[in-house]
Amino acid sequence: CGIVGYVGSRPALDVVVEGLARLEYRGYDSAGVALLAEDATLVTAKRAGKLVNLREALAEEPPPAGTLGMGHTRWATHGAPNDRNAHPHTDCTGSVAVVHNGIIENFAALRSELEELGHKLVSETDTECVAHLLEDELKSGGNLADAMRRVCRRLEGAFTLVAVHTGDPDLVVGARRNSPLVVGVGEGENFLASDVAAFIEHTRDAIELGQDQVVELRAGGVTVTDLGGAPATVREYHVDWDVSAAEKGGYEHFMLKEIAEQPRAVADTLLGRIGAGGRLVLDEMRISDQELREVDKVVIVACGTANHAGMIAKYAIEHWAGLPCEVELAHEFRYRDPILSRGTLVIAVSQSGETMDTLMAVRHAREQQAKVLGICNVNGSTLPRECDGVLYTHAGPEIAVASTKAFLTQLVAVYLIALYLGQVRGTKWGDEVFAMIQLLAQMPEKVDKVLETMEPVRELARSLAGERCVLFLGRHVGFPVALEGALKLKELAYMHAEGFAAGELKHGPIALIEPGLPVVVIVPPLARDVLHDKIVSNIQEIRARGARTIVIAEEGDTSVEPYADTLITVPAVPTLLQPLVTTVPLQVFACELATAKGHDVDQPRNLAKSVTVE
Ligand code: G6P
Repeated sequence: CGIVGYVGSRPALDVVVEGLARLEYRGYDSAGVALLAEDATLVTAKRAGKLVNLREALAEEPPPAGTLGMGHTRWATHGAPNDRNAHPHTDCTGSVAVVHNGIIENFAALRSELEELGHKLVSETDTECVAHLLEDELKSGGNLADAMRRVCRRLEGAFTLVAVHTGDPDLVVGARRNSPLVVGVGEGENFLASDVAAFIEHTRDAIELGQDQVVELRAGGVTVTDLGGAPATVREYHVDWDVSAAEKGGYEHFMLKEIAEQPRAVADTLLGRIGAGGRLVLDEMRISDQELREVDKVVIVACGTANHAGMIAKYAIEHWAGLPCEVELAHEFRYRDPILSRGTLVIAVSQSGETMDTLMAVRHAREQQAKVLGICNVNGSTLPRECDGVLYTHAGPEIAVASTKAFLTQLVAVYLIALYLGQVRGTKWGDEVFAMIQLLAQMPEKVDKVLETMEPVRELARSLAGERCVLFLGRHVGFPVALEGALKLKELAYMHAEGFAAGELKHGPIALIEPGLPVVVIVPPLARDVLHDKIVSNIQEIRARGARTIVIAEEGDTSVEPYADTLITVPAVPTLLQPLVTTVPLQVFACELATAKGHDVDQPRNLAKSVTVE
């Protein structure tokens, strides 16, 4: 979910609704606002569906003017995404309003307690009980912030809460535990949001809130305390990207813009990391070379697209660093009994830095003394704070729900780590590591070249819009790329799409092949002859059974031509780096196919970009 709070001198409704528009990637099942009007009455409006529905409702019935307000865009967890369950939620008296991101785990107990006390709760959400708890706490004295601190002490689970109260007409109160909330510091106005994108057009000065902190936001200042009311230490920072980075800049969709930004994003992620003499410099990582030399095993945890980056990392780390490496979906890792020790380096990959499944895996790993390194795209998010070290990707804000440029930069980050491990550990691959670092520097140009030749891919995608199913095959690092290609198609085109390891084909999936079925095959570079020949055989096997073969191979690979119904070529690069160029056509393919089907590619149904619940 996305949350915005504002207090200042401008019309709060405009600031809040524009902020919500920038946070819609976090959920778009419903949206709502609460404002304190000039006469200190509380006005709320909320609607199921995307923000546009709320905008229409507000245009039909404009609320009174006010300079303090908050808003919410929801990704439903408790209760269906309807008007009633939309946030804000209010108490019995209609004087307190609350918006919430996360899950309050003890809400059932709190709800029955409140009902016994005579409170009437009207929604199915866990959030509503917070409004009623605040109502009761306000009766026992203090202001809204005092009440919030007392209520938070009773809550279990993960939450960001923002509340307003008619009795405190110049105050917005926020609280956070395991869920993001940042303060935007302005002049004579202040902001609260799940992500700086919501207020970036007004201020780039931000404050990161810590765990179990409560913030009191007034036009003239910001106070942060812990749940006991004692002043808290916070981190202030300056956001180094501006509003244009979060706007579409002439593209029809954010996804198209983000695909196009990939050469820049890859270059930015490499920037400053290749030092004099061609050696890598990753001092910012906060894990010493000595500690890295003591690592005896690497475990990667991540979800969704980030997990595919993790799968590719395994090949790179085993090869360049000579270390055993396991990759696991964070939510599966968390509830097993993984064998970790002080010598284990856990790498958590997350664009948002807020994926709860990944954060829980990180905590689990640290409890068992493992060192944890985060790969993250969002400065100020939770993941970097919870890890021993962090390597930031510099993709800039990624707004479209389906990840593109963040994925490519995650690949760059894992290559950097694998090569750096090789460099500090002095593995037998020393010369190759050095050569690879130089090749990595050429990758922005290669990605750019891929983007220049995408028109046939777009045409192909449009021609396949009527298909029901597409399969993707790959070997080695081409296997995670196949999984990523299939995931993109599921997310955007709502089509049945599966990725397989091409070698596994004969063990089952080949039964799916029927005449005309589109199958995308990612072919490794010619130089990897054994691997290459094996996949060429796989293409022949599926073609013999009538599949329509869409082959992605490197330029000059004529050996696949006879078996390809469609051939898409990418620049020649070493095998391990190939995902940087082979993923791009698959992104373009899914985006174009979904657009041809009339889908909203930036906000696919049922998804959210940051899933801040387990
Ligand atoms: C959500 C998104 C996916 C994303 C995954 C992990 O499920 O819909 O696109 O890959 O979360 O996100 P993260 O921010 O941790 O990389």
